[in-house]
Amino acid sequence: MTGRDIRRARAADLPGIMALEAGAFTHGWSEASWTDELERQCVGVTGDGDGVVAMSCVADVAEVRRVIVAPAARRQGLGRTLTEWGLAWAAGEGAAEAFLEVSATNEPALALYRALGFQPVDKRRDYYGPGDDAWVYRRVIGAAKGELWQNH
Ligand SMILES: CC(C)(COP(=O)(O)OP(=O)(O)OC[C@H]1O[C@@H](n2cnc3c(N)ncnc32)[C@H](O)[C@@H]1OP(=O)(O)O)[C@@H](O)C(=O)NCCC(=O)NCCS
Repeated sequence: MTGRDIRRARAADLPGIMALEAGAFTHGWSEASWTDELERQCVGVTGDGDGVVAMSCVADVAEVRRVIVAPAARRQGLGRTLTEWGLAWAAGEGAAEAFLEVSATNEPALALYRALGFQPVDKRRDYYGPGDDAWVYRRVIGAAKGELWQNH
């Protein structure tokens, strides 16, 4: 396993995850939120601690809940790799589609998700606060099931 390989996170990874959170958001998820995420959802981390992804899957609908790459490690393909790892996990859980919410002002994240084939399906006004809208993005995961979904 190299430093860039991704594995399921455990409680001992919490300090490293909180450092990533602090490097990315001023009002981010609390330690309690991440503890809950570790216990209830699928969290993946890189061996070198440079990235984290949090996914959920309920029935056949997945959600990309968080992707963070350490500032010094950005634009090297890690965000893409982390998100793909999460989508692969969700596919294994039987997910047919994935959704996510992203700030309309978060250009790097918008670009990452678009590069991965996500498309906007809704805009939630003031979702993150006054003047900070959220885009809801969606992507099909399993092609056959995705076609079925689109026909509904
Ligand atoms: C969003 C984020 C995870 C991207 O991680 P990253 O490792 O830099 O992304 P990648 O290197 O895998 O980029 C993949 C593609 O996304 C797009 N992209 C990523 N960052 C971009 C940027 N700053 N500007 C324009 N396009 C960008 C590009 O298409 C890129 O492909 P390319 O490098 O071949 O052009 C990272 O910027 C980050 O941690 N931001 C803070 C946390 C955050 O906002 N997370 C998302 C919401 S939870």
